Amino acid sequence: MRNDTDFRRASCGFGSSAVLTWNKKRNKIYVFIRYNVYNPLWYDIARLNLKTESGSEIVDLNWWKNTFGLNGKVIVVTGGASGIGLGCAEFLAKAGARVALWDINKEVGEMASREIGEDALFVECDVRSNEACENAARKTVAHFNSIWGVLNAAGVIRRKNTVELEEKDWDIVLDVGLKGTYLVSKHLIPELEKGGGGSIVNVGSGWGIKGGPKAVAYCAAKGGVVNMTRAMAIDHGAKNIRVNCVCPGDVDTPLLRDEARQLGYDLDKWLAESADRPIHRLGTPLDIGKAVYFFMSDLSPWVSGSIFVVDGGGTA
Ligand SMILES: NC(=O)c1ccc[n+]([C@@H]2O[C@H](COP(=O)([O-])OP(=O)(O)OC[C@H]3O[C@@H](n4cnc5c(N)ncnc54)[C@H](O)[C@@H]3O)[C@@H](O)[C@H]2O)c1
Repeated sequence: MRNDTDFRRASCGFGSSAVLTWNKKRNKIYVFIRYNVYNPLWYDIARLNLKTESGSEIVDLNWWKNTFGLNGKVIVVTGGASGIGLGCAEFLAKAGARVALWDINKEVGEMASREIGEDALFVECDVRSNEACENAARKTVAHFNSIWGVLNAAGVIRRKNTVELEEKDWDIVLDVGLKGTYLVSKHLIPELEKGGGGSIVNVGSGWGIKGGPKAVAYCAAKGGVVNMTRAMAIDHGAKNIRVNCVCPGDVDTPLLRDEARQLGYDLDKWLAESADRPIHRLGTPLDIGKAVYFFMSDLSPWVSGSIFVVDGGGTA
């Protein structure tokens, strides 16, 4: 195949290398790759598709970035200092996006932003506050000029039933998870519109589509996020803004571990029980990041209002 093509050796990042061949007649790129199976990003890029007739796969990261459209796009990630938000921001940045981490936790958020590098910005923001969201939107636009995507990932949980739950617990869970999604979106949708459209991904939960024990406020917030996603998709589709919801199952983050503390469970037992699902492990922030990538990228140009469960089969 190399004989009838232009080919060059390409550095593909992540310490791997590949021989790329471009078949002009068929307008296809073939890649012969020695990839590092221990790097999950790389491994999945290799699996993602793009099988050619020869059975080899198109895996050049730069080509992938450009083709699927994240290159240079600015994505705001709330709750970006920790757990799922941080893992998604890291993955999106590796896939070519520039990311603004909005979080209430300044110290950790600034550190996370520094680690991601020059494509990241930390903005201190309490998503419960209209004014804070407005300011954060202004700072983000001043820094990056435009915004393409929003990942509403900030959230807290209180493991109490209706009788046990105090009003302040109800308020914080609903205010961060549900009202925060509204306020952040309210101030960013006009920015997406200015750029001709974009993508919003709201982080729901398996408990947004079914109930769970001792989590009444959380279930209310996530159920709200799920149906709010559909309403937003209807309202903003005409401006080329897609709105989708990713519903994770148990992902190993500080939030999940804190649930064991709140319920008075042994942590190891808690984590083992949480991993008990058809795909027998806990989720990782990267598992969620890959789903978010799908919605942020040009892989999903006609997908809006969808509720996408990513939970190792937990709610199956
Ligand atoms: N971890 C799981 O198993 C799981 C499962 C389903 C859904 N989720 C959802 O995923 C999202 C992320 O959760 P996580 O597990 O990564 O938790 P996490 O605690 O690791 O991260 C949550 C982040 O939100 C930030 N945050 C909290 N209050 C805020 C506020 N008022 N303003 C701005 N930022 C604020 C925190 O500082 C933190 O950085 C949440 O919406 C959560 O409900 C998590």
